[in-house]
Amino acid sequence: MYTLAVGLLANIYLLALYALALLGLLVVFNYLYENLRSPLLILKELTLAVFRGDEYRSLVKRFGKWAVVTGSTDGIGKHYALELAKRGFNVVLVARNLCKLEQTAAEITSVHNIEVKCIQTDFSDKRGKVIYEELFAKLEGLEIGVLVNNVGMMSEYPEKVHSIPEEVLWNMVHVNVASVTMMCRKMIPIMLKQGKGAIVNVGSSTDTQPTANGAVYVASKKYIRYLTNALQLELSSTNLTIQLLSPFFVVTKMNNYSRTVMDGGFFFPNVEKYTAFAVNMLGKTPETTGYWKHGIQVAFVGLLPLRLRAIFTRMISTDIKNDYLQRQKKRQL
Ligand SMILES: NC(=O)c1ccc[n+]([C@@H]2O[C@H](COP(=O)([O-])OP(=O)(O)OC[C@H]3O[C@@H](n4cnc5c(N)ncnc54)[C@H](OP(=O)(O)O)[C@@H]3O)[C@@H](O)[C@H]2O)c1
Repeated sequence: MYTLAVGLLANIYLLALYALALLGLLVVFNYLYENLRSPLLILKELTLAVFRGDEYRSLVKRFGKWAVVTGSTDGIGKHYALELAKRGFNVVLVARNLCKLEQTAAEITSVHNIEVKCIQTDFSDKRGKVIYEELFAKLEGLEIGVLVNNVGMMSEYPEKVHSIPEEVLWNMVHVNVASVTMMCRKMIPIMLKQGKGAIVNVGSSTDTQPTANGAVYVASKKYIRYLTNALQLELSSTNLTIQLLSPFFVVTKMNNYSRTVMDGGFFFPNVEKYTAFAVNMLGKTPETTGYWKHGIQVAFVGLLPLRLRAIFTRMISTDIKNDYLQRQKKRQL
């Protein structure tokens, strides 16, 4: 009887060990799949490019002549537009400030022999949906090869939802969420008719956990991730390319509140370097941080449990907020 009980226990123990090993294997497989899928796809595309003709290698031939970039008078949008111009695309700049639009257009045409169109649009315009009718009326007749839904905003500094001015939150939802939704809604039928085209939606790798003091911004970026992933599934049988570009921190004016980011560093590239890498990823992978060091960051962050990540980010964002407010106070003295 005693030996029978011991044998049974030993078998249960062995079974539990096998179950744990299997669980471990599944977790490791899932982790490797999530983190190595993009690098492997990029490698595959680079290898295939050697055998494919010019028709495929040239982004203009593959997708179409014009690229539309929203939020393209500064930061990532402006430099993404410059990189596309370098690859031969004519560019449509869409942003709110006419003077900055004209300056950016002049900057691009002074370096690249392409056409540039400017469309002044404020994505927080209280008139709502009508701005998209007006924008698309101005795009009529152009072969749009690439749409970059880059426009985005956050609050002046990390802050709790109930302390951010209502107006800022309202604008954030319209600029970050409504714009990408409506731009995709209107552009996809046009690209389907053309039989080709690429849409790049700019999210953020900060969306890997809910973020206290950045709640609405990060939630809007999670929306962009899921929207883009779902569009990829909806359009998988078409010739359209839908890409999620989710950077970590890049040195742009959006991060003016953080000295650490604005000082640059190993994980904080300047915007020129970042966009040069990011545009190279276009057409190679459905999802990318755009920059290999950001890929490493995401892989490390993914090792921690979600709850722990959320607590860490709350600590970091609170520190950044306090540092920013202290500096503001000193400036006012
Ligand atoms: N920088 C980062 O670390 C980082 C990280 C992850 C994701 N991202 C995402 O990358 C995208 C670009 O960010 P960024 O850092 O390059 O920002 P940025 O330097 O602040 O540039 C934002 C661009 O959008 C324009 N814009 C802002 N509000 C607008 C509005 N209501 N209507 C029309 N245009 C408007 C700005 O115009 P003005 O020139 O008039 O301001 C500017 O051209 C955003 O979606 C952001 O969430 C950035």
